[in-house]
Amino acid sequence: MSERRFFSRDAGNFRPSAIRAFAKLINDPNIISFAGGVPNPETFPADELADIAARVIREKRAVSLQYGPTRGLARLCESIAAICRARSIDCSADDVLVTTGSQQALDLIAHVILDPGDVVLVELPTYIGGSSSFYARSAELAGVAQDDEGIIPASLREVASRLRGRVKLLYTIPNFQNPSGRLMTQARRDEVLAIAAEHDFLVIEDDPYGELVYVDGADTTPLKSRDRDDRVIYLGSFSKVLAPGLRCGFILAPRALLGTLEIAKQAADLCSGTLDQSIVDEYCASGALSAQIGKVRAFYRQKRNTMIEELARHFTGRATWTSADGGLFTFVTMHGDVDTAARVEEAVRGGVAYIPGAPFFVDGSGRNTMRLTFAKEGEGKIREGVARLAGVFAATTDER
Ligand SMILES: Cc1ncc(COP(=O)(O)O)c(C=O)c1O
Repeated sequence: MSERRFFSRDAGNFRPSAIRAFAKLINDPNIISFAGGVPNPETFPADELADIAARVIREKRAVSLQYGPTRGLARLCESIAAICRARSIDCSADDVLVTTGSQQALDLIAHVILDPGDVVLVELPTYIGGSSSFYARSAELAGVAQDDEGIIPASLREVASRLRGRVKLLYTIPNFQNPSGRLMTQARRDEVLAIAAEHDFLVIEDDPYGELVYVDGADTTPLKSRDRDDRVIYLGSFSKVLAPGLRCGFILAPRALLGTLEIAKQAADLCSGTLDQSIVDEYCASGALSAQIGKVRAFYRQKRNTMIEELARHFTGRATWTSADGGLFTFVTMHGDVDTAARVEEAVRGGVAYIPGAPFFVDGSGRNTMRLTFAKEGEGKIREGVARLAGVFAATTDER
């Protein structure tokens, strides 16, 4: 008997992550991996977190081991509002909903906003966890082109006009996007907001990487800071600056929407883990976060510089890549008709792993692209790994 006949329509539209399949290829320590998508554990302030954890469990058990408010612990909401104000967003604790990672925020928003067949506009390429949340509500996804300045306004206008009346959401990651590593310019952000108003859709601004900046002068000011007509739902996360295992993210949204998201969250999990929240709360209250962010930036900056240098050495004339002025990724586009997915196994046999880019493109394009993270390996291995990668793509830029 097949249980599938009992499944919901939404379950019929679930899509497993196409990139998880590659994870099993990269567990071998002899393989230099540019394939991961996770922060480096060396950046986690483990001793401080261990001390805080012991303290909140012993001394604050009625909070840290108890159910908590669905909105999130009150002082943590205050700290999050302060973090957002420092990012030029005018807000207070009443605008905040703590979520179980920003991934839950994506799921809750999709649940509250989307009916089957509604259209979500996403960047080409986009974060797979975002597209999975929208597919899981039986939405249709339409891709919007990007260049090195971010979303191309003409493309956004064209797609929004073509699908007029069906578009409810645009999902964008303006700061050091996963997977492309790009930073959207402020001028483009203004145009995106204007087009959203013109075509009357909401914008999810997902910003887990905005603090991970490696160059001077990168302007990461969120769209949300200029959201005059309450269109932008802003998402943040402690995963990339503190530790993703703490599963602590947040939504900043117009208040009417926030109330409904809160009800959706009650149904999902009553509240995010109070032990995780208590640890993040104490960490923020101790004032240690800004020094931690400084350390994380310094940790990744050199790795990023090394990878960009090595790409220039080995791939100039054969590919282009994004400058990764922040975040965890650079995105490589091979010249010519190269299918990066077809070469993964050969690369792994040659001792290097990457993520082929096509799964990040909802329109089926991107077969000549790949995502590389510089988060995992040390500088020596990054040099060696890029050289190995060059070997894999050396023979030809034409498909074999
Ligand atoms: C763009 C983007 N959004 C959301 C997430 C999910 O992060 P969290 O750990 O906060 O759920 C990730 C994780 O990699 C991401 O890259």
